Amino acid sequence: MRIQVKTGRLGQVQDGVAVFTALEGEEHPSSLLPSHGRLLSLVSRSGFRGALNETILLPEGKRWVLVVGIGKMKDLSLDRVRQMAGTAAKAVRAQGLKRLTIPVLSHRALGSAAEVAQAIAEGALLGLYRYDKLKQLPKHEQSRRIEGITLVVERAGDAASARQGVAKAEAIAEAVTLTRDLINGPSNLVTPTRLADEARAIARRYRLKCTVTPFAQLKRLGFGGIVGVAQGATHPAQFIVLDYSPARAKATYALCGKGITFDTGGINIKPSAKMELMKYDMAGAAAVLGTLKAAASLKLPVRIIGIIAATDNMPSGSAQKPGDVLRTLSGKTVEVLNTDAEGRLVLSDCLHYAKRFKPDYTIDLATLTGACVVALGSEAIGLMANDERLAARITQAGERTRERVWRLPLWEEFGGQMIKSDIADLRNVTNTGEAGTITAAKFLEAFTEGLRWAHLDIAGTAWAERPKPYVPKGAVGIGVRLLIELLSNGK
Ligand code: BES
Ligand code: ZN
Ligand code: ZN
Repeated sequence: MRIQVKTGRLGQVQDGVAVFTALEGEEHPSSLLPSHGRLLSLVSRSGFRGALNETILLPEGKRWVLVVGIGKMKDLSLDRVRQMAGTAAKAVRAQGLKRLTIPVLSHRALGSAAEVAQAIAEGALLGLYRYDKLKQLPKHEQSRRIEGITLVVERAGDAASARQGVAKAEAIAEAVTLTRDLINGPSNLVTPTRLADEARAIARRYRLKCTVTPFAQLKRLGFGGIVGVAQGATHPAQFIVLDYSPARAKATYALCGKGITFDTGGINIKPSAKMELMKYDMAGAAAVLGTLKAAASLKLPVRIIGIIAATDNMPSGSAQKPGDVLRTLSGKTVEVLNTDAEGRLVLSDCLHYAKRFKPDYTIDLATLTGACVVALGSEAIGLMANDERLAARITQAGERTRERVWRLPLWEEFGGQMIKSDIADLRNVTNTGEAGTITAAKFLEAFTEGLRWAHLDIAGTAWAERPKPYVPKGAVGIGVRLLIELLSNGK
């Protein structure tokens, strides 16, 4: 699908359905663009108020006009623009129409033409996403496809900047699409080998360095955390390192991703209700792949090393058993008191491995704890960090992208005795279960000596049970927009 930018007024420049954006007023909807006034007074008589994501589709001669509410002026934000565009694109597609034209709104509360155009393009592209590759769609469904979107700027001087915003959105949406596809894909198709192939494909396309270490070698090399989890699985585990290293990089970031392609719980097997959702336990790994793809495509001036541990967590005759002790790559030994707390085991090796690159910052992404779903629900990523500046920058990137984070403390009381084993250096679960998200992070922290590190628990945010204007039900692709925003802002 093509997105183009043209200069003029909506009405003069119109390709397909014209999208009017309406502000919610006290009595009538109003518009940021004076030329929309007459139309809005008309639709207000139908009861249309301009509430966020409210729509009304009207015929106008041979054409169509779609009015989309964006809510009250005081609440205007880039995220609402993103939502409006997602709502508009989907409404047009649902009608079986092919093209739409959206004005690039201009208002202080929103920012530059580049930022607004980026938000519109992102909202539309991400909103139109569907995971339908495993369906045999009937012809009429197949043909429901948006072919083109035109963005209009009123000032000729804004066109170039809007085009830059669109190009950025296209790179990001392509990466989020990959991330979502990998997460929505079932575990019989998205195996550790498939994740490795995906990393190699990114490496080939953007000329990155990629090394993949399969299970047999991991055993020899001492990756005890990954091996402990992987030894019960039939699909061979893969340890994936994808290195984007541009000339004159301003900083080095290591991004570690939990890539459990299916989490049965292992011998401490999970209850069967909703177990199918555990295909999304590789959402951290998928976000790392998406971030590297977008960063390389956008030529961001920072080095980024993606480090992914990919494996199923399965019960079997060769699976690790409760009480087993494993020796992680760092040398620290862990008593595995619950085989379902496997994410921290594989990540401990990833975090330790990151040290060899001497990164300025290390960030891990993981669907790590059910406790995070309870504590923060689906709107906030759990952030735990040992570096104030990094935490502040991630928080700010979260606000800007609306992939918001909420920080939890790493007080020493949550570590120490809580995660100490009688017979090994650490135990992988506490005996109380209290503060499960934080104690999991304290376990990870034991493998981050010398690193400026942040941990993002995306268990609650990586999968959407309810659709939103630019996030369909299922995989969200959380983390990609957040990290690209962070990495775009240099050191
Ligand atoms: N993958 C799960 C965490 C999870 C739960 C993610 C729900 C998404 C939705 C993780 O491996 C796990 O099972 N954690 C256990 C830890 C416990 C045994 C200490 C949990 O949260 O119950
Ligand atoms: Zn688990
Ligand atoms: Zn898990």
